[in-house]
Amino acid sequence: MDIDTIGDWERTNDCGSLRRDDIGREVVLMGWVNRRRDLGKLIFVDLRDRFGLTQIVFDEEFDEVSHERAGILRNEWVIAVKGEVAPRLLGQENPEMPTGDIEVKAKELKILNETEIPPFQVDGKIDASENVRLRYRYLELRRPALFHNLFMRHRIALVIRSFLNSEGFLEVETPFLTKSTPEGARDYLVPSRINKGSFYALPQSPQLFKQLLMVAGFNRYFQIVKCFRDEDLRVDRQPEFTQVDLELSFVNEDGVMDVVEGMMVDVFSKILDHPVSRPFPRIEYEKAMDLYGSDRPDARFGMELTDVSDQLRSSTFRAFTEVIEKGGVVKAINVKKGASFSRKELDELSSMVTDSGAKGLLWAKLRPDGWQSPLAKSVAPNSRGAVEERLGAKEGDLIIFVSAMDHIANEALGLLRIEISKRLDLIKDGDYSFVWVTRFPLLDYDENEKRYAAVHHPFTAPLEEDIPLLGERPEAVRARSYDLVLNGEEIGGGSVRIHTIDLQNQIFRILGLGKEEVREKFGFFLEALRYGAPPHGGIALGFDRLVAIMVGAKSLRDVIAFPKTQRASCAVTDAPSPVDRDQLSELGLSLIYP
Ligand code: AMO
Repeated sequence: MDIDTIGDWERTNDCGSLRRDDIGREVVLMGWVNRRRDLGKLIFVDLRDRFGLTQIVFDEEFDEVSHERAGILRNEWVIAVKGEVAPRLLGQENPEMPTGDIEVKAKELKILNETEIPPFQVDGKIDASENVRLRYRYLELRRPALFHNLFMRHRIALVIRSFLNSEGFLEVETPFLTKSTPEGARDYLVPSRINKGSFYALPQSPQLFKQLLMVAGFNRYFQIVKCFRDEDLRVDRQPEFTQVDLELSFVNEDGVMDVVEGMMVDVFSKILDHPVSRPFPRIEYEKAMDLYGSDRPDARFGMELTDVSDQLRSSTFRAFTEVIEKGGVVKAINVKKGASFSRKELDELSSMVTDSGAKGLLWAKLRPDGWQSPLAKSVAPNSRGAVEERLGAKEGDLIIFVSAMDHIANEALGLLRIEISKRLDLIKDGDYSFVWVTRFPLLDYDENEKRYAAVHHPFTAPLEEDIPLLGERPEAVRARSYDLVLNGEEIGGGSVRIHTIDLQNQIFRILGLGKEEVREKFGFFLEALRYGAPPHGGIALGFDRLVAIMVGAKSLRDVIAFPKTQRASCAVTDAPSPVDRDQLSELGLSLIYP
């Protein structure tokens, strides 16, 4: 069959723009057949493009030729229609559609392209597995919901760029073919043809380059930039993802936080028309762990963790007293109106607790006649009263206790707190709660490897007052670091940096890096620190995560045009894929695995 070309037709409108005011106009629309209903004399086509849908009507009496042609149209064919904008018949208007008051009476139809039967219906009536949708991502991207997410992503990036520009930031691109930047994941390596046996690493972040730009005197740098990390995937992780990366000279923590808060206020107001108040609350890491059992506290609801060891010290309940004697704690949360939790639900919660290393949980339902609880006999009435008072618990509430070493109790109750908030539907859509978590530990002792590792990265400055501890108790040193948490998700992390070579060398030594290794890996950077590095600090926001929260997406995949699958592959192109022997030998490589 002949396929018409667009010829001399010019598109006058997109498929989302026609309204009552356009009635009587002659228009040309182009797009995809979303749906066709053939009523014999009348054929209706919903024509779709990324702007919306417009109903086209092919009327035998109005134009016989185009009516006949419309008879063969199928979903997803690409067509152009010339016609007249007309009001829909009374009662046929569709208030759900922006173009629902009108239709276009077709005078001419050009078929621009046919299609094979698509592997799934674009209009989403019958869905396909995620694998199929990812394989044919360009078809899934025709769907308005996914398109909307990417459109929002584009708009958010524009607002951020323009905000940072107005704050004096300069966008600078940094290399992708570079050396490893340690951010705690594995590198993606790229073999060099010219220097056989040598490899570039794709950047886990532009960390060292942005610090070099501060040495260069750029003062305020930003970049909306791809980063690459070979790590196990989760819904909130992709192997290549995007950061809004910032670095500023002559600042302390406040200077960085101030810019980021301004940026968030601007983005939320311009994109979601949502007022965000600032300054954002700040909580030190230790306190966050203590109150929320998490370094990503979701502060949209209360249910804070409370230490009730003192109130229960005199109980006769062995699991409590023994743990307290060994230096552990009894911590509790009060679940408001939680007394209706069933036995089964409590058992389910209990099994979650054991996953995080605690022996289990204990509970007390506050009934009109007192505690209904396996603990009722072991805890004297005055202790019960003291516990209730400390937790602010009232009749109808449920108290959940975990006794264990501090960090285990925190983690267990932190997880329970989130789970319970979901079960009780405590979080309302459209709530946004920003929190800064500050002063993380600088170093973490890795028991397996018997050495310290940087919690953020090795370029993070220690808190001035903790520097004397670096020699004796490195694990007690706090960092000048901060994470930005939004609704319980880490959307950014940064720090004030080390800008003197002596301190940077000291940290490398504590991390167990030998002189030679340091020279080989970071020599260029240490050298730069010798040439007048200003005090500086910065942060990177996870752009995909931010967008996902703003559009209400469950997975990062829903805000990335061509995301990777669970197995870190590209479903569209099938990358990664084997390469020719010739290509390998050109690179000086041979495979151990055939
Ligand atoms: P960090 O490693 O904390 O800091 O990363 C910053 C933010 O990037 C996001 N993020 C990810 N998003 C999607 N998929 C991933 N695999 C992924 N990994 C991280 C998170 C995180 O908060 N160079 C430092 C920043 C600095 O110090 O300025 C860095 O990269 O939202």
